[in-house]
Amino acid sequence: MDTKQLAGEKAVEYVKDGMQLGLGTGSTVYWTILKLAELVKKGLDIRCVPTSKSTEKIAENLGIPLVSLSAINHLDLTIDGADEVNPNFDLIKGGGGALLREKMVASISQRLLIVIDESKYVSHLGEFSLPVEIVPFGWEMTSKQISRLGCNPRLRTKENSPFVTDNGNYILDCYFEKIQNPSTLNSALNMIPGVVENGLFVHMADTIVIGNRSGNVEILKK
Ligand code: 5RP
Repeated sequence: MDTKQLAGEKAVEYVKDGMQLGLGTGSTVYWTILKLAELVKKGLDIRCVPTSKSTEKIAENLGIPLVSLSAINHLDLTIDGADEVNPNFDLIKGGGGALLREKMVASISQRLLIVIDESKYVSHLGEFSLPVEIVPFGWEMTSKQISRLGCNPRLRTKENSPFVTDNGNYILDCYFEKIQNPSTLNSALNMIPGVVENGLFVHMADTIVIGNRSGNVEILKK
């Protein structure tokens, strides 16, 4: 079985009847969403907040009950993917461009469970370019300011135009190689005017579900 599928499907074991859930974005959590839809058909009672328009569409088509973030005060659990995870459970997210909504949803969630394949569990964050969501206005200036933090930002593009997020913003993919202090960098980035949010998730995840090539699933808990 695919390593992403292994991790994604395992995550549904943490879902209980009556829960309010955050539904992440990407090709790993996709498997979670498929399994959840099967369980909903069998009577599982859940309400979910999607973290992107694409997840919203998939979940809606599968008949998973959705609710808007504005209509709720808290979530019991969010299940999401990540691009890198370090042993402190700090994350880089946003490879799929949904980092802002993902962080907002995770921030009101009692628990954040991350599903990944084993290639994403790393000793240090930063080999994967850190996605930073910025407003389009004056984006070159924002990019220059971000580069002073020790990276080389690249504007994400799609079909030769800037990639536009669900929130109408741009993404800079910032290569740091090795992020020594994710918490400090997270704050420094978010202090720059023009930055909306960055893909560092610090002290947010409590459970990591890892699909291994050997066919096993490893569960790490804080
Ligand atoms: C989207 C994300 C995704 O969770 C992350 O990119 C992992 O995606 P995938 O499971 O497809 O590898 O942060 O913004």
